[in-house]
Amino acid sequence: MNKLANLEKTTDSKTLIQHCKDVLNQNWRDGFTVPSSNLYPFQWLWDSGFIAMGWSFIDMERARQEIKTLLAAQWSNGFLPHIIFHDDSAEKQYFPGADFQGAYTNAFAPKHVKTSGITQPPVLGFVLEYLFEKEYDLALHKEFYVNAIQSIVHFHEYLYLNRDPYNEGLVYIRHNWESGTDNSAAWDSIWKTYTPPTYDVQRKDTSHVNQAQRPTKKDYNYYLHLIELSKQCEYDEKKMFEELPFLVQDPLFNSLLVASNESLVRMAIELNMPEVAQKCSSWLTKTSLSINEKLYDEKLGLYGYYDLKNNRFISIATSMGFSPLFAGIVPQERALRMTKIIEGVDFQGTDLDGYLCPSLAYTDPEFDAKRYWRGPVWLNINWLLYKGFTNYGFKNIADKIKNDSITLVAQNGFYEYFSPIPTENEQNGFGGQNFSWTAAMLLDMLN
Ligand code: GLC
Repeated sequence: MNKLANLEKTTDSKTLIQHCKDVLNQNWRDGFTVPSSNLYPFQWLWDSGFIAMGWSFIDMERARQEIKTLLAAQWSNGFLPHIIFHDDSAEKQYFPGADFQGAYTNAFAPKHVKTSGITQPPVLGFVLEYLFEKEYDLALHKEFYVNAIQSIVHFHEYLYLNRDPYNEGLVYIRHNWESGTDNSAAWDSIWKTYTPPTYDVQRKDTSHVNQAQRPTKKDYNYYLHLIELSKQCEYDEKKMFEELPFLVQDPLFNSLLVASNESLVRMAIELNMPEVAQKCSSWLTKTSLSINEKLYDEKLGLYGYYDLKNNRFISIATSMGFSPLFAGIVPQERALRMTKIIEGVDFQGTDLDGYLCPSLAYTDPEFDAKRYWRGPVWLNINWLLYKGFTNYGFKNIADKIKNDSITLVAQNGFYEYFSPIPTENEQNGFGGQNFSWTAAMLLDMLN
């Protein structure tokens, strides 16, 4: 499918909706959807969550199937992997593949399918509720929802049991890829604490996308080293907790965990699963309190990160710093302060005309409008913020996020990410093309 040629053509929302559907149809495989056919030829965890919401506008059966396929790769300890390598023939297209990642070294890993040994943000609870609410015949599909709820609760249980060593209600990530925001500048201070070996490997991402828009070669050494160390630990959680130099309490990950727990509570009540409701409700209370106590950055007025390995707070203004709004856990005064921040130079540039929401503040010295998670706008994060600001009643900001998202796609095509800086007649979309979650999020915003 081609990039849409001109604005006039694309302001027609019917055409855009049709293009969204084309992208998802084109990326559908046998039972799941790839994020982007060349760059990411397998199934990714949080992508599939957002994608399932997109499918709910086209075909509920596929939406449910997307989730079923994902959950079928769950490890016996509840862990959910961030990649499921369904297709052996696509392995030459992607690095690091299943062998390099070596998740098979762990006894809990499934035997019937190859997976990675790291996870991604816990979106499935609220994704499932999104489908649940749209279900036309709940009685017919009750079994699907009950089973999915049990699997998601098992995942959350795994997180609280294995990733919350001090019983704070905050879970840690043990690889930057687990954050979903791979090369965020939030990790830079951690990279300074150790020196990885240099990996002389053939990256595949840079053969699909310009190197200037991807993480640097040096950054990749850190990422691969963490994978290698995890493999040496056979992905044993206790060993990794001791050995890995990267253990972070991430605001986005924990906020999405709260939102998912809340959704699980509501569904469990409707489906008469009182134990699930009780468990998720106590988790969500505890996690919400700790996010507000430990991750709020008074200086910036946003939520930040805690580096658990080196015992220090990471103060940085990223778009993920707004994500607790999505979980509805931000006290009103703080939320109000956040509206001033998103409307100011940090997130809209000195002329206050930038597209929302850049992944890193313009004022951060590391800001780079075109490099992956160090500046560009991502549609999945925009969707979370759009919902968050809407729920708090900040309609103008929510509308701007939504309209900017639509404009960026309409003008550039279904890219993986976009520069927040407005330009005239210049291509502003970057990374993978015909990107599934970009299409899925737009379907929600256009409907
Ligand atoms: C990149 C993104 C990650 C996403 C994956 C597949 O690694 O950073 O969030 O899940 O691509 O789209």
